[in-house]
Amino acid sequence: MWLPPALLLLSLPGCFSIRGPASVRGREQGSLTVQCRYDPKWETYVKWWCKAAVWGSCQILVKTTESEWKKDRVSIRDNHTSHIFTVTMKELRRDDADTYWCGIERSGIDLAVQVVVIIDPEGTVVTSSENLLSRTIANSHGGFSSGSNVR
Ligand SMILES: *[C@@H]1O[C@H](CO)[C@@H](O)[C@H](O)[C@H]1NC(C)=O
Repeated sequence: MWLPPALLLLSLPGCFSIRGPASVRGREQGSLTVQCRYDPKWETYVKWWCKAAVWGSCQILVKTTESEWKKDRVSIRDNHTSHIFTVTMKELRRDDADTYWCGIERSGIDLAVQVVVIIDPEGTVVTSSENLLSRTIANSHGGFSSGSNVR
């Protein structure tokens, strides 16, 4: 099947090349992971993670190459067995909330899928009384910081 590259970019339903979650949440100062799945035929290709509200001005943060897989608070790992690559963002800040893209580098136009990252501000009111209680107890023992680091 031949398709114009611009169409492939949007990852047509039924024409699977790359898939990711529509959105991912993280808590300020916590961390989050994003997993993008790709068709096995892209196994040996370089994968990337970029940040952009507008496609076309996407700033690549990390790539699955030896020198670029980790930068500041962001890292990317490709699992060639499961055909899933995982992006980890840590020490999250409010301004990390944005539109990002999981992508595959290839000749012509890269393949990509959009992922919206949502950051819950630190100090968000906890509605579950159970959580509130365990936090209060943890705090009374000193120094325990709650967050989404445990997964
Ligand atoms: C890659 O995925 C396979 C299958 O899910 C898993 O068994 C393996 O541990 C993963 N490898 C790494 C390095 O995470």
